[in-house]
Amino acid sequence: MGKLIGILTAGGDTPGLNAAIRAIGKAAISVYGMEVIGFRDGFRGLMENRFIELDSKALSGILTAGGTILGTSRDKPHKMLVGGRIMDMTDVIVDNYHKNHLDALVCLGGGGTQKNAYHLYKHGMNIVTLPKTIDNDVAMTDITFGFDTALGIATEAIDRLHSTAHSHHRIIVVEIMGHRAGWLALGAGVSGGADVILIPEIPYDVNTIVESILARSRAGKNFSIVAIAEGSLSKEMYNLRQELEQRLNDTEDEKGKEHIRHDLKDLDTLHSNNTMRLAKELENLTGLESRVTILGHLQRGGSPSAADRLLATRLGTAAARLIAEGKFGVMVASKGKNAIPVSLKKVVEKKKTVPPDHPWIESARFVGTCMGDTNPPA
Ligand code: F6P
Repeated sequence: MGKLIGILTAGGDTPGLNAAIRAIGKAAISVYGMEVIGFRDGFRGLMENRFIELDSKALSGILTAGGTILGTSRDKPHKMLVGGRIMDMTDVIVDNYHKNHLDALVCLGGGGTQKNAYHLYKHGMNIVTLPKTIDNDVAMTDITFGFDTALGIATEAIDRLHSTAHSHHRIIVVEIMGHRAGWLALGAGVSGGADVILIPEIPYDVNTIVESILARSRAGKNFSIVAIAEGSLSKEMYNLRQELEQRLNDTEDEKGKEHIRHDLKDLDTLHSNNTMRLAKELENLTGLESRVTILGHLQRGGSPSAADRLLATRLGTAAARLIAEGKFGVMVASKGKNAIPVSLKKVVEKKKTVPPDHPWIESARFVGTCMGDTNPPA
């Protein structure tokens, strides 16, 4: 009898998930003679043993569809809300894996999912993962699927905001997703020609932004587009966060740690209003009317771009091959034109943020974009 594999999608949904499910399934069934099932709603479905059969009929016609046919959730195996309590459900999940006689499980997700999948690998499950997220912040891969589609959507939004900002002589501050990484805002900001780009990796100084907007006005350009990544921080907030994180690392006792975690949560709550606050500040300090556009989940919606379909198909078919070869505890990474297995242990060690000397940042500066920092490198 052929092998039986399970697939699940976890974390935020992303264009390209269905293309990847289809690629894994079609290759597994037709090339390797395997059978495939799909668990509903991420790790929760695996815990509750809710799955569907993914035969060739179920895998047909889904290449171009957005979202995930399996559903998703942000549940973690070791910290799941069950009956009103947070419980470690790892053992139940491992049991279900064995009860179903699975030979392997493919987990499609971003940074959090990679960690959860590694946790299950350490508990004896044969795991292969794929990197998906619009944030593009998974380590050890050149790119994640979903990023290209979201980049296109955010770029088009900036294009469209230009004409209205120009007509009304306004500042438009457009907030772009990306969690604590700036890939999406930077990529869309450069492609859409934003005048100011703010990313979490470069703490900003409001006065620098004001000065660059006023310089544009003096040059006769009395409108500005500010592309801000949702995780961007002012210098002051950045320093505060760094200090708290340092203290959290240094503090030994659990009570002390609890206090610091509380302060970090407060900082996050304050930050949730950051884009609105910044727009108001810019309006007050420049005298130019300002408006805010928060792109939000629009960036994750709809059909995947051609590049994402291609990437998801490349990585998905490679996952089926790795299972056939019995290679587990790995994520299928995109490196140049190749799809290669990289150790999950290494993937979960860090987040892939934008390096300060990244060519996109350099190019942005060269075309006169303000990156919000006071003393940009020469
Ligand atoms: O990780 C993808 C992402 O869209 C981030 O960019 C964003 O911070 C987060 O998910 C939003 O999460 P949710 O869909 O749970 O609100």
